[in-house]
Amino acid sequence: MIHLHLTALVLAIILFFITYNSIDYPDGESKYSKPLHMVLRLVYLIILFSGLMLFLDFGSGNQMLYGIKFLLGLVTIGLMEMAIIKQRKKGTGRNLMIGLIVFLIITIALGIYLPMGPLSAMFQ
Ligand code: HEM
Repeated sequence: MIHLHLTALVLAIILFFITYNSIDYPDGESKYSKPLHMVLRLVYLIILFSGLMLFLDFGSGNQMLYGIKFLLGLVTIGLMEMAIIKQRKKGTGRNLMIGLIVFLIITIALGIYLPMGPLSAMFQ
């Protein structure tokens, strides 16, 4: 399950940047932008599902940090979605992008700090 989580989040990060940059405000957007966004939303669901399963499997250990990881993951996905939508509507996605990068780094760091998974194993 953790491999699914990692594969999905790497895919989401790549798809996020491609989708974001396919929007050229105010001149319109690439015809691939909407389909890419839809695939990205599907990948969010895979991250949520795999994260929830991991949470249910291991979350009883360090409840506070797992709870925070859950919330940070949700906020990060929320910020990805909001940045794309703002960029499409008003061209002001960059502001949210800064918050997104910060949350992304903290979420990944906490994921690595928590004990399971291949990335955690690299640091032991
Ligand atoms: C874009 C959002 C997310 C990112 C970037 C992210 C990132 C990560 C990373 C890097 C790991 C560590 C994998 C490893 O050590 O090999 C991880 C593990 C984990 N993630 Fe996420 N995650 C996100 C969303 C979520 C969500 C929404 C949830 C909960 C529903 C969640 C729950 C977990 C859990 C429970 C673990 C296992 C931690 C452990 O025991 O080591 N994640 N995540």
